Amino acid sequence: MSAARNVGIGVVGLLFLVGVLLAGVFFLSNGKLTKTYPASAVDLSVRTDSASVARGEYLVNAVVACRDCHGEDLGGTYFMDAGPMGKIAAPNLTTGRGGVSGTYSGRDWDLAIRHGIEPGGRGLLFMPSEAYTHLADEEVEDIVAYLGSLPPVDREFDSPKLGPVTRMLLATGQPIQSAAHIDHDQARPKRAPQGASAERGAHLVEVSGCRACHGADLSGGKVPGADPSWPPAANLTPDPTALGRYNETSFEHVLRTGEKLDGSKIDPTTMPWQAYAQMAPEETRAIWTYLQTVPAVPTK
Ligand code: HEC
Ligand code: HEC
Repeated sequence: MSAARNVGIGVVGLLFLVGVLLAGVFFLSNGKLTKTYPASAVDLSVRTDSASVARGEYLVNAVVACRDCHGEDLGGTYFMDAGPMGKIAAPNLTTGRGGVSGTYSGRDWDLAIRHGIEPGGRGLLFMPSEAYTHLADEEVEDIVAYLGSLPPVDREFDSPKLGPVTRMLLATGQPIQSAAHIDHDQARPKRAPQGASAERGAHLVEVSGCRACHGADLSGGKVPGADPSWPPAANLTPDPTALGRYNETSFEHVLRTGEKLDGSKIDPTTMPWQAYAQMAPEETRAIWTYLQTVPAVPTK
């Protein structure tokens, strides 16, 4: 056999393998896209009173940061629109045309926010419900009350179109589809007590999504599913190589201003500190108090 022919067979073989691999990724990711997740959702009350709206406004602005993806007016925006990633909208949450506030029942809200599931049963992509699953009933009800009070925005989106990179992330089990990683039967917490306690801080760390980026043990590293150009998320454990370098004052400063100890600023597209900047001082103190209690992990 001539060398040229050998190379020819090699290329055909390689193309064949690539073909099999692509088909595999397509097949596996399609399975996850079309899978319907069962969950026993609670039929929450949809309230309109001003006290609920005000509490919900605080949560949305300062803690759960829905605007980070659903847009400044919460009327939705394309969360991702880049060739190999695909085109996926974080949809309209207002009462306007194309908005879910006009059509969702209390049960639908529970499914979408705390389970990461669309009313039809499809697992939502990139919606951080692993964090929101720790919200108390009353907190979700307050968030929903606030969303229902927003000026209606008429804006509609195409259904998600996935590119090969997103399909690969999904096929390899990267945590971009919350519904696959949530314990749908766990008991939901009661509203955590107010004040600067570690218990309150633990709740805030869960629901504000610090772990989604800083890792389950908060020791930092690459943010799953994020743009590869992002810096790794910092180590937030009390080790001297990590949060041990901070004190309560400098910690509050970085959350309020995005400014790290070396004076450089955190890019707000990589961490939603502009939302956390609006937290009540007692809440940032609660987070600081809680972070002192997690096991220290040295920075790699
Ligand atoms: C990290 C980005 C991100 C954040 C933060 C986020 N979402 Fe989403 N959300 C998405 C994306 C993307 C989708 C669409 C996913 C899909 O269609 O597979 C979505 C879908 C939804 C849906 C389902 C809408 C439908 O099509 O039926 C609801 C409801 C929702 N989000 C509410 C919220 C609320 C409330 C908050 C804040 C508590 C929030 N989201 C925060 C990214 C986000
Ligand atoms: C969407 C991802 C994301 C979320 C959510 C997030 N962070 Fe971050 N955070 C990052 C990234 C990425 C960096 C590194 C930024 C840099 O170095 O420029 C960072 C840096 C930090 C720093 C600076 C540490 C240092 O090295 O000086 C602190 C403090 C911090 N985050 C705290 C938090 C807390 C507390 C929460 C939850 C309330 C949180 N972050 C939520 C992505 C995130």
